Amino acid sequence: MAEALLAIDDLRVQFDRGEDEVFAVNGVSFSIAEGEALGIVGESGSGKSVTLMSALGLIRENGKIMAGTAKFQGHDLLKMRPRQLEDIRGRDIGVIFQDPMTSLNPVMRIGDQIMESMLTHQYAGRREAFERTLQLLHEMGIPEPKARFRNYPHEFSGGMRQRIMIAIALACEPQLLIADEPTTALDVTVQMQILALLQEQRRKKQMSIAMITHDFGVATNFCDRIIVLYAGQIMEMADTRQFLLQPAHPYTMGLKNSIIEIGQRDRQLSPIPGMAPTLTEPPKSCSFASRCPFATERCRSELPALREISPNHHVACHRAEEVLAHAI
Ligand SMILES: Nc1ncnc2c1ncn2[C@@H]1O[C@H](COP(=O)(O)OP(=O)(O)OP(=O)(O)O)[C@@H](O)[C@H]1O
Ligand code: SF4
Ligand SMILES: [Mg+2]
Repeated sequence: MAEALLAIDDLRVQFDRGEDEVFAVNGVSFSIAEGEALGIVGESGSGKSVTLMSALGLIRENGKIMAGTAKFQGHDLLKMRPRQLEDIRGRDIGVIFQDPMTSLNPVMRIGDQIMESMLTHQYAGRREAFERTLQLLHEMGIPEPKARFRNYPHEFSGGMRQRIMIAIALACEPQLLIADEPTTALDVTVQMQILALLQEQRRKKQMSIAMITHDFGVATNFCDRIIVLYAGQIMEMADTRQFLLQPAHPYTMGLKNSIIEIGQRDRQLSPIPGMAPTLTEPPKSCSFASRCPFATERCRSELPALREISPNHHVACHRAEEVLAHAI
């Protein structure tokens, strides 16, 4: 197996809300290999963004990393000085942020925004950065790059703005791209185009991708391996094939059943009745128990550990073997 490019180990993140605390990430460990596309799937509030953004030093001030390491090429991002982290972010690790409207600068020409990334990281001089920007716009499928270079974000459609975000993230040829819901706001046809574009860039550049999504269908179509998050914990982690053939966690089984044929408009996660919890204290039992058709007394009193039930297939469920038997 290829060496880990990013290895996150026992990450714990808490937010202070004044009156209480939110336990957003509760002991998450996983790695991303070179060239691998890893899907990070879960409902809203499950901790997908906070897991990756805290590793990059990009969570709000009321957030605190309580424990863990996040090693990128062997160096712990959590121990780096802000300046060091800024160097890596945008150069070695490209990020497509969840909300493109707030992350593009509305009063700056899009060409300048793409160039800026290269100039800031001293990836290229002005002339080279300009040429590369035109090339990137072309690769992103934006017609007439020279003319479009001078346009502002509001002069583009949602799909085109997302392509510009991708161009910025890819400008310095990162080894790892973190794509946080890169297609959520887009209609299905544009979504497919953007995913195809990302896949093509990944193959061309041998880049790793962490694809954060609440859409299990997007993850299974795009990724080699998937982790499923719930209440800031990994519920299941396996190869995509394994997820589709043998899901061993009741939550994942629900997600799998929720995949609707491509082409349908709404592919939100709504697999199992109920809501994902926001934890205001550390989990002491299975966070999924209130929604789980398999729940027993043990589930309500004992925290299930993430354990390897077959090679490279990890599940946090006391009854994984029975669930697996049920799924087959
Ligand atoms: N600044 C903050 N203050 C308090 N709680 C926060 C803060 N940021 C995130 N949280 C909480 O942390 C938890 C994880 O949030 P996160 O943004 O990672 O969810 P997510 O899985 O990315 O969801 P979405 O699909 O909606 O983007 C949620 O319960 C959220 O409310
Ligand atoms: S540990 Fe129990 S409640 Fe939790 S997912 Fe497994 S069977 Fe369901
Ligand atoms: Mg998010």
